[in-house]
Amino acid sequence: MGRLSPGREEVLRWKRNAARGAAELVEGDQVVGLGSGTTVAEVVGVLAERRPRAVFVPASRLTEQLCRRAGLRVGSLEEYLEVDLTIDGADEVSPQLDLLKGGGGAHTREKLLALASGKLVIAVDRTKLVGFLGERMPVPVEVLPFGWRQTGERLRRLGGKPSLRQGEGGPFLTDNGNYVLDVRFGKIARPGELERRINSVPGVVENGIFSGMADIVVVGHEEGCTSLCSRREWGKLVERLGAPSKL
Ligand code: 5RP
Repeated sequence: MGRLSPGREEVLRWKRNAARGAAELVEGDQVVGLGSGTTVAEVVGVLAERRPRAVFVPASRLTEQLCRRAGLRVGSLEEYLEVDLTIDGADEVSPQLDLLKGGGGAHTREKLLALASGKLVIAVDRTKLVGFLGERMPVPVEVLPFGWRQTGERLRRLGGKPSLRQGEGGPFLTDNGNYVLDVRFGKIARPGELERRINSVPGVVENGIFSGMADIVVVGHEEGCTSLCSRREWGKLVERLGAPSKL
């Protein structure tokens, strides 16, 4: 069984292991989407050492800055209608490989990038493996600032408990200039259904449930990294490393 509380340094090592595994999938002349977050920052670090010829399409301003600083070629979704693969992180990964994202508030652009991609590769440390979505995280929902309270009330009627995300000195603003409501739904039994229902609420821009979108989940852990493509592989890894929900 794994230890119950890994330290920050240990989790960082697991993130790096995942980042190395995911960066391996980048080939020469590809167009590669990059999501956002600390794990993606590690991916950029690995790529900076390798300097591949690929063009990188960042999902956030922060990732764009990191790519430019690392000397990587940067493109945009306007220039590239199709992306070969996208590498992104996640906040929760269920046994079905459904994802909860948006801890950094970049999930709208990340979802658009993923939808434009031939393949979605998710890099996570093993603390992100959960028995069901909603186990630890609320669902981040990007909403228009206009009428956000009313949008929150509509989300409440869907069974959620919304809370406005705060930034420095006021509501957190996404790269799109919108607010984020973090909405607790408890255990999410049918992620695909909830994803659609949230997005049907007027005022909602996009939510952080990514159901059925991940092709490969590269999980970093104490022994290196493991690529998962199915529920069975998820189960085998968790059996080997110990219960993830206790981390
Ligand atoms: C940002 C995201 C990130 O991918 C997610 O929050 C994971 O971040 P990290 O790699 O820092 O744990 O969805 O909107």
